[in-house]
Amino acid sequence: MTNKIAPSILSADIMNLERDVKMAEAAGADLFHIDIMDGHFVPNMSFSPSVVEGMRKITDKPLDVHLMIDNPEEYIESIVKAGADTVLVHAESTNHTYRSIQMIKQLGAKAGIVVNPGTALENVKELFPIIDQILVMTVNPGFGGQKFLSGMTKKIQRLDQLRQTSAADDFQIEVDGGINDETITKCADAGADIFVAGSYLFGSDDFEGRINKLKDLVED
Ligand code: DX5
Ligand code: ZN
Repeated sequence: MTNKIAPSILSADIMNLERDVKMAEAAGADLFHIDIMDGHFVPNMSFSPSVVEGMRKITDKPLDVHLMIDNPEEYIESIVKAGADTVLVHAESTNHTYRSIQMIKQLGAKAGIVVNPGTALENVKELFPIIDQILVMTVNPGFGGQKFLSGMTKKIQRLDQLRQTSAADDFQIEVDGGINDETITKCADAGADIFVAGSYLFGSDDFEGRINKLKDLVED
């Protein structure tokens, strides 16, 4: 399994999104992370399915779509039709996580569950046999540029152990929030496979240097 770096376009220059996406792709982005927020589930708003559709037109890289919205079932179909490769729903965003994951998979996309910093892994364990990914939030969701919550390293470790001892071990561990050249190593050592990075990459004038640094740090 190869570790992957997923630039989060939340921190891209939105007025120059295509330029930034092409630049990130040329610099070695493995996939793109797209945050969709509704102003209810999290105290911020961001992209909509039309941004996924637009992204699909300008890149062939996988699109990893992080839904921070209430009632995700209502939008899953439009997100997959817009071109998402993976759709991630928060454990607390619906009473029916199992159904949401099934819906995503039936539509032909990969499915993942997202755990907030305060969400117990126990709450999502029954989904292990049917998910492709689990996204561990390493900040409170809603904003880019926040500080990595150091207590999450142990949680990733426990998740990796659970994965190794579970018969349903066929899912990847993704981390999102506060990932930089220090925190990425902690997450990789703990067992993470996919690393989302927003402000660390797009907030620098040396995107290529920074993504290469992250790649070197998690090379397996
Ligand atoms: C936060 C989002 C992240 C965000 C990460 O709720 O889910 O994807 O873009 O940004 P950084 O890497 O700046 O913490
Ligand atoms: Zn995200």
